[in-house]
Amino acid sequence: MSIERILVADDEESIRWVLSRALKKQGFTVDLAEDGRQALNLFRKNHYDLAVLDIKMPGLQGIELLKQVREEYPATLVVIMTAESTMENAVAAMKNGAYDYLTKPFDLDALDAIILKAQKAAEVSNQISQLKEELQGQYSFGRSIIGNSQPMQEVYKTLGRVAPSDVTVMITGESGTGKELIARAIHFNSGRFAKPFIAINCAAIPHDLLESELFGHERGAFTGATERKAGKFEQANGGTLFLDEIGDMPLELQAKLLRVLQEKEITRTGGSQILHVDVRIVAATNQNIAKLIAAKRFREDLYYRLNVVPINLPSLQQRKDDIPALVEFFLQRAQKDLGVSVTECSQDTIEFLQRHSWPGNVRELENVIKRAALLSPNHILMPEDFPGLLDGHRNKNQDESLETVVARKLENSLAKMDLHELDNLYEMVLHQIERPLINIILHQTRGNQVRTAEILGINRNTLRKKINTLAIEVKRG
Ligand SMILES: Nc1ncnc2c1ncn2[C@@H]1O[C@H](COP(=O)(O)OP(=O)(O)OP(=O)(O)O)[C@@H](O)[C@H]1O
Ligand SMILES: [Mg+2]
Repeated sequence: MSIERILVADDEESIRWVLSRALKKQGFTVDLAEDGRQALNLFRKNHYDLAVLDIKMPGLQGIELLKQVREEYPATLVVIMTAESTMENAVAAMKNGAYDYLTKPFDLDALDAIILKAQKAAEVSNQISQLKEELQGQYSFGRSIIGNSQPMQEVYKTLGRVAPSDVTVMITGESGTGKELIARAIHFNSGRFAKPFIAINCAAIPHDLLESELFGHERGAFTGATERKAGKFEQANGGTLFLDEIGDMPLELQAKLLRVLQEKEITRTGGSQILHVDVRIVAATNQNIAKLIAAKRFREDLYYRLNVVPINLPSLQQRKDDIPALVEFFLQRAQKDLGVSVTECSQDTIEFLQRHSWPGNVRELENVIKRAALLSPNHILMPEDFPGLLDGHRNKNQDESLETVVARKLENSLAKMDLHELDNLYEMVLHQIERPLINIILHQTRGNQVRTAEILGINRNTLRKKINTLAIEVKRG
């Protein structure tokens, strides 16, 4: 990209006219706005390489506009124009990310000089971002994060805020929500991107080996240690270490990890040499760490050390809006990697997929799409291509008996609960059936309790008591 399209926003028509004529003459595409709102509308439609904004316009002021543009369109360079050249104006403009600052009336040469400078800067920054992209592509293996739902936007915001610093991040979320993906994104958006991203899964490595995996060992440190081995901390030096499933780390090792994090030094098992390490830590878990702390299976001090910035990933259930984009993404990937000829999903299928509860989150969706794409004989995926996703199907099925529906729901809900933690399961479940039943009949009888009791076949006093204990609201009429 060089500078091609320019937005000029000024409430004075003469200025708009002069600038637009001069810039168009030089071959730029120029759009004009009379005030801040118009400018923002144009920003939403087009990409501008450069924007020349008057600081004083009716409605949205130039500085406010500048702030918004810098935030939402950081790739656009902004030059601020002002008739009053006060220091406050200039400082405010530059502090808020203006590229340069012009005082009216100005020579068109002054603007030209700025554009030339911007051209050069754009070329250099292009080269850099191209290099960076190449590098990132190489390291990140093209992993994109899909999803623009509200909860994901929150995740991206935090990600953007924390990635450039060295702050420790703790990612939580159900299995398959993309914790590792986010950990990688943090690394590849940090200054450490060209250095290693090393992941270690604390749940997958036997406890007695974990220590030497993390910190390395000297030759002969234990039986089987025939060579000196660098641990993950050493391998990640200068880069990022991703401690996955941190909740599974044994307590003794947690103590050692805490020391290492505080001192930024390690010693290999069986060694005495102290090695300085510069490693950014990102940790993840799908367990409830608060519970582990309460059960004395996780050190509270380590938790606070790791949880400097928490990122909680939404379950797929909480962001069903993202399902269409995810499906499209996984289908494209299947075409590329597996050579399948399925190209799209019918709208029916999308809706059907959105009804599924996705306990395995994005990973489950990914696998399901891959499987369906491999097995489907058609170009378009239909609900029939997902015979395994019965709960989505059944929701649609009106012929099921109440008992079947309840049984399935119950089974699902119970699977998600820790049954040993509950002492009133029976009552809890019955309440969840009684409450809607009474509610429905009350609604049908327009709040008539006598009729309701009759229909339900229970005594009026019993009904009144139930209404009280179940905290049911009776609406009349
Ligand atoms: N937002 C997303 N966009 C695209 N792919 C995603 C997204 N989230 C997750 N995935 C994909 O889903 C799979 C699971 O993601 P990942 O391994 O990061 O999950 P996880 O939270 O670490 O799971 P677990 O707790 O089981 O380790 C991966 O193949 C990943 O690429
Ligand atoms: Mg993971």
